[in-house]
Amino acid sequence: MKILLTGANGQLGCSIKEIFKDSHITVNAFSKTDLDITNKKQIALAMDEFKPNIIINAAANTNVDNAEKYPDKAFSINYHGAKNIGMASKDYNIPLIHVSTDFVFDGDKKDGYLENDTKNPINSYGLSKHRGEEEIIGLASQFIIIRTSWIFSEFGKNFLKTIYQNIKLGKKLKIVSDQVGCPTYAYDIAEFIFTLIDSLHSSFAQNEIYHFAGLHSCSWYEFANLINKVAFNEGFVEKDDLIEPIESSSYKGNIALRPKYSILNSNKAYKDFSLRPTKLQNAILKSILSIENDER
Ligand SMILES: NC(=O)c1ccc[n+]([C@@H]2O[C@H](COP(=O)([O-])OP(=O)(O)OC[C@H]3O[C@@H](n4cnc5c(N)ncnc54)[C@H](OP(=O)(O)O)[C@@H]3O)[C@@H](O)[C@H]2O)c1
Repeated sequence: MKILLTGANGQLGCSIKEIFKDSHITVNAFSKTDLDITNKKQIALAMDEFKPNIIINAAANTNVDNAEKYPDKAFSINYHGAKNIGMASKDYNIPLIHVSTDFVFDGDKKDGYLENDTKNPINSYGLSKHRGEEEIIGLASQFIIIRTSWIFSEFGKNFLKTIYQNIKLGKKLKIVSDQVGCPTYAYDIAEFIFTLIDSLHSSFAQNEIYHFAGLHSCSWYEFANLINKVAFNEGFVEKDDLIEPIESSSYKGNIALRPKYSILNSNKAYKDFSLRPTKLQNAILKSILSIENDER
């Protein structure tokens, strides 16, 4: 079995490479430099050369504020790029696993979002990802769309790494306390994808949308506070009270609007595949230990 992976140097891409490393499945992993999903010719060349059995699209423009500032760029990758990948799945008649986001919802629902809830994105990133999903549903030969949220890991740029780098320097941070979501460990998504691929031929894994996010919902403030506590308990930072809450209305750092309450109900994925994501505290610890290991 051969997989063509796009966005291979991103958080999820790196985790997928790790998870599949010792398996019987070959992953042809393409970074943006090797395969730009906005370039149809590059996609066709890669497909012809590697003849994959499955595509995993982990490539995206994920900077939410930049997407608001430069929507054309976000749309070229998250919409047109996704469409190109959907077209490749159709032309070569192979399944596509595509990754999407909680930001396709507006955050006004008071309990967790289900897979078939109405989408209503409130920023350009969310809209570009929503349009990408629609193309894939319309085009792909066989698709699975995984919506996830608040990805963190030891790889690339992410909230956990930013908080950790700052608290290690002893900096006090004000973090928004009125946006709630489910932090998701990138390795858990990669493991879910591994499990999905094993079951691609079963009926419940075909042309489906799955929500897959961490078990624990919290605000950005609570997430940052937990990172601080874990890092303090392990002796990597000197204080455990460096995080203060702030209302998003007083925080001037964001350009794009964010959903207030973007909890994904992941029960369908958990149940269909008997999965349990890593406990948040343990996933934070694993990420911190890997960051420390890499720095040595
Ligand atoms: N990060 C989150 O919190 C989050 C939350 C919900 C859903 N998601 C979704 O989950 C998926 C994986 O996210 P992630 O956190 O792994 O994102 P990430 O770390 O930003 O990785 C995305 C990768 O895609 C690459 N890329 C950008 N434009 C490309 C193009 N035109 N062609 C090919 N590759 C391109 C990026 O390269 P450069 O860095 O060089 O541009 C990067 O390596 C994405 O679909 C994202 O929308 C993410």
